[in-house]
Amino acid sequence: MNRRALIALLRTSVIVVLALMVAPQALPAQKGGSAQKEGQGKKKESPPPDYNPYPPGILPADLQSELDRVSREVNLIFQQALAQWRALPPPNLTGQPPTLQGSGYDMVQTLGKLMNFDENISPFKNQACASCHMPYAGYSGPIPSVNLTMVAFPGSFHFRAGKRTAQRYTYAPWFPVLQLNETQGLFFGGNFWDSRATGYLLQNPDAEQAQHPPVDTQEMGLPDTACIAFRLSQAEYRPLFEQVWGRGSLDIKFPHDTEKICGTPGGAKVFGTDTTPVKLSPEDRTQANRVFDNWGQSLDAFEKSKEVSPFTSKFDAFLAGNATLTPDEMAGYSLFRGQAACNTCHVDGRGSTDARDRL
Ligand code: HEC
Ligand code: HEC
Repeated sequence: MNRRALIALLRTSVIVVLALMVAPQALPAQKGGSAQKEGQGKKKESPPPDYNPYPPGILPADLQSELDRVSREVNLIFQQALAQWRALPPPNLTGQPPTLQGSGYDMVQTLGKLMNFDENISPFKNQACASCHMPYAGYSGPIPSVNLTMVAFPGSFHFRAGKRTAQRYTYAPWFPVLQLNETQGLFFGGNFWDSRATGYLLQNPDAEQAQHPPVDTQEMGLPDTACIAFRLSQAEYRPLFEQVWGRGSLDIKFPHDTEKICGTPGGAKVFGTDTTPVKLSPEDRTQANRVFDNWGQSLDAFEKSKEVSPFTSKFDAFLAGNATLTPDEMAGYSLFRGQAACNTCHVDGRGSTDARDRL
């Protein structure tokens, strides 16, 4: 080895050693950097130490950097949704009953989209619905290493995690209210893997589904449903919420300790068994409950939009008589409804008893 090559080698080694020394310090700094919201100008609460009771190998090594990546993506789409909102025509509330003519549907869907990508609806302002449901993953979990290890995605409180894989939610708004069809002796409808969002109250299981994650201690983790109204009252898109759901709908007198309460994850010892730690007057509680319903309904509208549920698959075209399945596809479809009996559970309303479908 000549002298020049030796110097070059030494220089490279020094750079590598320096990089290794700097790297561990660079990580937390990077975390803090991405924790800062672009455009929303809000500081986050500093999160508590990680919760990690798991056996080794459960939390993937790239978990934090992947969460940071998804957070950047979520915030980018949030910014795009803000631009979409600003590009909407002015609201035109006319008629009896008064209806948002012309752009009402776009307004409520855009509102739902903003909510879906809003990380502020969590105690540490670090988790949105989309954190577990990203468009490029069919609205399911966007972190490959999590899908291969934990399966369930970590919530706002790192790294508390649920027990199930994030469901794809395309077409979820079309599930009916949970009901027993007595003729067929089968249950139909509801949302979630186990249909526990039944739709009993709003008569819309998908809207009621959207009310669970914000107060699920293993997901977005707010300690009180009123925290949703509180965070919406501070949202940049508050004017859109008020245009859609009524002027003054977010005028709620929140007690001075609301930020502290909503910045503390549900399940914390201070709350004991209290599920309504934000102490509101009965009138304000009723109003916050209404906001909570409107939250679910707006998210349902977004999921119903062409952006999420486009009905453009080959199978849709086939059902409409505009496409032919290949022999393999047809064999799979027949198996699904026939011998494999998949549709005894994945009921598609096209009975496996239909003689034409039997293999
Ligand atoms: C921490 C990850 C996580 C977050 C955050 C999250 N979800 Fe989910 N989502 C899941 C999991 C897991 C399931 C299935 C849970 C079950 O069945 O118990 C699910 C199920 C659903 C379903 C049911 C789909 C169906 O076909 O029944 C919808 C709709 C949905 N989520 C929408 C949302 C919305 C809207 C938000 C925000 C308000 C949200 N999710 C926040 C993980 C998450
Ligand atoms: C006994 C009832 C039952 C039968 C029969 C059944 N499934 Fe399932 N399937 C389920 C349940 C329950 C789930 C949700 C599992 C979970 O919690 O992750 C599921 C999930 C799935 C999923 C994942 C869906 C998603 O969005 O992640 C696919 C795909 C699937 N089943 C296909 C099939 C096929 C194909 C057949 C026939 C060969 C079949 N299933 C038969 C009950 C059934």
